[in-house]
Amino acid sequence: MTGAFDKISVTAKLTAYMRQFSDIPFATDVARLLNAEEVFDTLLHDQGIGPGDLLWYAPIFEVRYKSVARAIQNAGVSQVLELASGLSLRGLAMTRDPALTYVESDLEELTDDKIAMVTEIRRLYALPSSGNLHLVAASALDRDQLRTAAARLRPREPIAVVNEGLLQYLTSEETETVARNVHELLRDHGGVWITTDFAVKDEVRDLSDQQRRFRAAVAAATERRLHDGAFPDAAALQSFFDRVGFSARVLSQVDEAGEVVSVETLKLPRETLERLKPRLKLWVLSAV
Ligand SMILES: C[S@@+](CC[C@H](N)C(=O)[O-])C[C@H]1O[C@@H](n2cnc3c(N)ncnc32)[C@H](O)[C@@H]1O
Repeated sequence: MTGAFDKISVTAKLTAYMRQFSDIPFATDVARLLNAEEVFDTLLHDQGIGPGDLLWYAPIFEVRYKSVARAIQNAGVSQVLELASGLSLRGLAMTRDPALTYVESDLEELTDDKIAMVTEIRRLYALPSSGNLHLVAASALDRDQLRTAAARLRPREPIAVVNEGLLQYLTSEETETVARNVHELLRDHGGVWITTDFAVKDEVRDLSDQQRRFRAAVAAATERRLHDGAFPDAAALQSFFDRVGFSARVLSQVDEAGEVVSVETLKLPRETLERLKPRLKLWVLSAV
């Protein structure tokens, strides 16, 4: 099953490329070490699109990362399990606080590359390892792999389970599997599920030409259509939460993110984020 998802990892490289225009810790190192520019240029060439068709997404990735980091801090937990963590390296940044234990999980192939990358970045900046960052291969769809990943965390103490940029690629059934896996972990530990990833069809239908070109490029690279598993409407999302057993608080990513520097770095129109703000949501869910 895992093999079918390996192609998605190209999107992790794409987000890594975009984040270099932000002030997110290690983002420029990751983009450089990954040769992310090459992935970006190949995508542009293969899809016959220009940089402007993709780069306007950079602030969205910055906002998403920063809002999730803020939500983790606000959750008041000292243990985090990130699913599909890609190459964002939030765990490396946050575990500079030795009181925090962070498990970054993703598919095996990506995790192997990431271990090498984190070793290199630690060497570059002479960062000590306090043993509180764990890079673990686990599919979010596989209950046993997730439980093995979560075994790095102290049992029966609250956790934040986190994911950004995963559910968009999954079917409704796969999304429900992930939700049930997370629910089980939260039942054992307590804590919250923080995610930016639910989509409602009403909100993802009305696309600009640039958004369509971005979607087409990602779909071609991943062989998966974005938002196939989107919920028909807000009521369907709420009944999904009720069925799986979550109570949800919805926040605005833009409000939570704080300063966004990539708009300035890339000289994008300032209203970009204001326009997108209603769609950029962050869910903080508790198991009921
Ligand atoms: C769009 S990237 C997002 C990565 C990261 N969260 C970020 O914001 O940069 C999607 C990630 O999902 C991972 N992925 C895909 N299927 C997965 C699965 N079943 N379980 C865990 N990770 C998965 C990919 O390897 C990739 O790293």
